[in-house]
Amino acid sequence: MHIDLPRMPIGGLLIGFLLFATTGTFVAASLLREGGALETAATVGSPTPAATLSERGQQLAATNGCLSCHSTSGEVIIGPSWKGLFGKEETLADGSTVTVDEAYIRESIQNPPAKVVAGFSPVMPSFPALTEEDIQAVIAFIQSVK
Ligand code: HEC
Repeated sequence: MHIDLPRMPIGGLLIGFLLFATTGTFVAASLLREGGALETAATVGSPTPAATLSERGQQLAATNGCLSCHSTSGEVIIGPSWKGLFGKEETLADGSTVTVDEAYIRESIQNPPAKVVAGFSPVMPSFPALTEEDIQAVIAFIQSVK
């Protein structure tokens, strides 16, 4: 079918408008996508994702007060030090042992009294405000404290 635009002014206007609207949306979408690409490039340019995650974990540990009870140097403050904690075999107050892995650290944060480390008082508060992402970052940080 051949559309004769000059003889169909309203149709021509409509098609023109549709073309304009479609192109406008397309340009806006491309611009948005370019913005996204720029952001991605900036992220790729900074430290590796793993470093970023554990850096975020370190910040969270500081702002949530973890580091006022847990040292990264081996020194015992109120809780056990995080130095060399990940992968270590921990003795609990009931005499059982547990390997420190992600699940154990997650439980220690979400439900501290569930497993109490031998020789320590169960004084650690729980942190319901920490999201799953936050917890993963904190675990990455603890894992990096060798
Ligand atoms: C008021 C002090 C205090 C604060 C704040 C605190 N903890 Fe603890 N934490 C302890 C104590 C005491 C223990 C040992 C007793 C126990 O297992 O509950 C412990 C145990 C742990 C353990 C198990 C350690 C091990 O050697 O097996 C982990 C992991 C842990 N805390 C993580 C955290 C994180 C993450 C935060 C912050 C979000 C935090 N703690 C905040 C006092 C604290």
